[in-house]
Amino acid sequence: MPADDRRIIDALKELSVSNMLPMHMPGHKRNAGLADYLRLLGAEYDITEIEGFDDLSDARGILSRSMERAAALWGSKRTYYLVNGSTGGILAGVRALSRRGGSAIVVRNCHKSVFNALELCGIDPVFVRPEMDDEYGIHSSVRPGEIEKALDCNPDASLVVLTSPTYEGVISDIAAICKSAHDRGVPVLVDEAHGAHLGFSDFFSGGAVKAGADIVIQSLHKTLPSLTQTAVAHLNGEIADQREFERELALFQTSSPSYLLTASIDACVRLLADEKERLFVNWERALTRFDEFVAGLKNLKILMHGSRSMEKRADFHRFDRSKILISTLGTDISGLELKKTLRREYGIELEMAHRNYALAMTAPGDTEEALLRLGRALLEIDANLSPAKVERAGTAPAARHKVYTLAEAANSEKVCIPLEDAEGRISAEYLFVYPPGVPLLIPGEEISAELISEIKEMSGSGLGLKSSYKTAPERIFVLK
Ligand SMILES: Cc1ncc(COP(=O)(O)O)c(C=O)c1O
Repeated sequence: MPADDRRIIDALKELSVSNMLPMHMPGHKRNAGLADYLRLLGAEYDITEIEGFDDLSDARGILSRSMERAAALWGSKRTYYLVNGSTGGILAGVRALSRRGGSAIVVRNCHKSVFNALELCGIDPVFVRPEMDDEYGIHSSVRPGEIEKALDCNPDASLVVLTSPTYEGVISDIAAICKSAHDRGVPVLVDEAHGAHLGFSDFFSGGAVKAGADIVIQSLHKTLPSLTQTAVAHLNGEIADQREFERELALFQTSSPSYLLTASIDACVRLLADEKERLFVNWERALTRFDEFVAGLKNLKILMHGSRSMEKRADFHRFDRSKILISTLGTDISGLELKKTLRREYGIELEMAHRNYALAMTAPGDTEEALLRLGRALLEIDANLSPAKVERAGTAPAARHKVYTLAEAANSEKVCIPLEDAEGRISAEYLFVYPPGVPLLIPGEEISAELISEIKEMSGSGLGLKSSYKTAPERIFVLK
């Protein structure tokens, strides 16, 4: 059979005007006249794996061709489409590369999906902690030497997992980390949920596929023009087993993927293949103009480009230049207040904010005018700021003391108590601020007096502290 090279969206359009009677799922029957929401959401194109289309977990037709095109675009051995975000790919990747009950080297500032994967796989993680940058209160890059040390001390570890770039845009030296791991026959999984764009131009750099990581997971929806939930998983090298990975992907993905999502990934891949030079030149130009425009900021600091680049500092390997990280340190407003002001007074919604910074995400969908609008607002806010009366330095969180493994904690009896009384008890919960979703505390770790103060201070400062059983911040589940 000749390969089906049609754009998926074209195949869906053909189907929608055909006379084929849909005596199959989904229940809206592509009848957009049934209700307004179906028309608005494009239900006439919403199908799953029917005859003439393809099976996401065993692709041999239109999806298979599309995924080959994606692999060629990123330069991976194989690329798989994900319809439940990077989350599904991370769960599948960790499981494919690990042995149940085994061990893994995990960089501690990973997203909660990595911790969920560790728990599901019964992995006892050996954590490597990147330094916390005192000046800006964000994690710096993980040092390859620290990974190497952890690998030497834990010869049984079956994989290395890290996030690069982080939510804040900090990139680690993936090539050096891969070299240490591969020399020992250990695969590397990179959560590159925020970095699907990194490999496409020299302006952005640090992409993990080209750096040789074995499995790389990217959320297309975060930085590229694709619908929410869409992501890709790349497989590289010879260490990771293709068949295992495919089995795990099928395990963690729905058996009814919506073709609205797969058509979106297909179209995004084609758009990049055909027009990435134009799209990226415009994006780079808009970012450069923004950088020049905000050069006059007196109080706020943009940790991004040019002479103010974080890359000049030894603890930062690289910084993702698509992220506009605005530090409020040394000023009389917090990152949370800056975010609120931008929203309320300028109609600008940022991605996230923390105590000492706020984060704007940019993408090829941004115009130069959009970035200048943000720049104008920042200059105006900046002109009215004063130096901080109370310093809110980003202190490093205390190292947690692990008493039980994640699996042991998950299998133990739990009791909910007031946080006040939790000193010395062992947590049965994850505690995190979302975004970025990096756990402050995980099950099996001891709750110290210092941590209790940290939690109180965080919730007092307006950071939305969350916990697995939704008890934070007043109460917490601990082991009985
Ligand atoms: C670092 C990181 N990894 C993974 C994820 C999960 O990505 P998704 O929302 O595509 O499932 C996120 C989500 O914010 C993230 O920030």
